[in-house]
Amino acid sequence: MAFVYPEPSRTFSEYLLIPNLTTKQCIPSRVSLTTPLVRYKGSANDPALAPLSLNAPVSSALMQSVSDDKLAIALARQGGIAFIYCSQSIENQAAMVARVKKYKAGFVVSDSNLKADATLDDVLELTENSGHSTIAVTDDGSPRGKLLGMITNRDYRPDVHGPRTPVSQLMTPFARLNCGKAGLDLATANELIWEHRLNCLPIVDNDDKLVHLVFRKDHDDHKDHPLENVDAEKRLIAGAGINSRDYAERVPALIEAGADVLCIDSSDGYSEWQKDALSHIKEKFGDKVFVGAGNVVDAEGFLYLAEAGADFVKVGVGGGSICITREQKGIGRGQASALMDVAAARDEYHRRTGIYVPICSDGGITQDYHITVALAMGANFVMMGRYFARFDEAPGRKLRVNNNFVKEYWGEGSNRARNWQRYDHGEGEKKRNNLEFEEGVDSYVPYAGKLQDNLGLTLSKTRSTMCNCGSTTITELQERARLTVASAVSIHEGGAHDVILKETRGTTSDS
Ligand code: IMP
Repeated sequence: MAFVYPEPSRTFSEYLLIPNLTTKQCIPSRVSLTTPLVRYKGSANDPALAPLSLNAPVSSALMQSVSDDKLAIALARQGGIAFIYCSQSIENQAAMVARVKKYKAGFVVSDSNLKADATLDDVLELTENSGHSTIAVTDDGSPRGKLLGMITNRDYRPDVHGPRTPVSQLMTPFARLNCGKAGLDLATANELIWEHRLNCLPIVDNDDKLVHLVFRKDHDDHKDHPLENVDAEKRLIAGAGINSRDYAERVPALIEAGADVLCIDSSDGYSEWQKDALSHIKEKFGDKVFVGAGNVVDAEGFLYLAEAGADFVKVGVGGGSICITREQKGIGRGQASALMDVAAARDEYHRRTGIYVPICSDGGITQDYHITVALAMGANFVMMGRYFARFDEAPGRKLRVNNNFVKEYWGEGSNRARNWQRYDHGEGEKKRNNLEFEEGVDSYVPYAGKLQDNLGLTLSKTRSTMCNCGSTTITELQERARLTVASAVSIHEGGAHDVILKETRGTTSDS
């Protein structure tokens, strides 16, 4: 007969944190959320010892509807990391990674561009659609064309100039523009902006081709991003997904593009294919290339991947919001039980070998406080899909459904993503035999605005809870936190109850 665990499989919502003494030192502004991202030798959970760490313990899921270059830039700027999805061609994925690594704060690629023979009508239409009033005029109308002039809403009056007036007659021509040369830094660009009283400084290369625009309003940009996560050359940190099939070609392309860390994308990581992939990468690239592996839900799975060389291990099967793996195949484990089992194995492995392998809790976070509970249970960082899919920066379309704005969010195991290698075993057994079935759904999530605003609020809740638990670092939280299993009735007690609410609340999740 099969082995049956004596304890039920539990999830985050079944637990509550018990407050500890909050000393006067425990205030949110003193809380550090820095956390190790990859393995290292030395004392437990010390981000200073890890060759790569995060300033905020959050990562975004390896999913088409979540992690592209735009979201990766926004998230790295808030101290976390995105893992750019691998269910796309190697070239496209490498190009996304390269765009993150080339991103320069304050330097933007011009998104509103016209040719000189465009008309005032075209200017008005573009301004209306983009919401931006600064337009670059280039020889081919592209953001990288030869710069011929700039036009803003101060250069024309629709009631005076006719709709057919050519842009060439209205723009400030190149000869009269103040431009910066490619390669200058933000401080110098800002000096030029102040010196010439500009709103926007175009940056051009030696052939007068447009490279970037720098806006006056972005002057204080770096002050708004105190947790920004950058490498030694001050480029944003970028992660990328790989699969256990084409890693021999994909990994070199991603490294060439500048990826800082890779992660094997699989719904079930306790497999010989993951071990083969890890061995191949470590043999070929040594310890310079960091690779996370997963997903696992128990001590055995963790040990297998840690011993195979994984730089971090991802935990979670079947708990994702778009996931139907448990319904389709009956495998998985409650996220809290899985995480605590793996965390205990990680700590035991550390005591035995002196090597600390960070773990990531992946999927199933539906309330902001689940992040803090996951950290208290031993996670070094979390991975979220649904949470990030709601933001402007995520790739899904923003739509209006039943008078509400929503964003599209689809699983990697849905027919839409067709990321079958994430779910298939062997050399594409299911695909060859035409036996693919869905393990994910195609859905909408409520639109929530900008990543920066939302994540800022979420992490402020984490800092606040950590203070309640008497801790100012994640290590202290893990050492000091006390958790209790909440009964169904006490969970009911935790929401607003026995009152008549003045407003109905939109969703059951706060994040
Ligand atoms: P969420 O944060 O609850 O939305 O979960 C996101 C996680 O679900 C991802 O990081 C993956 O581990 C997992 N996932 C992504 N797509 C699918 C799918 O189609 N089926 C099952 N799990 C998925």
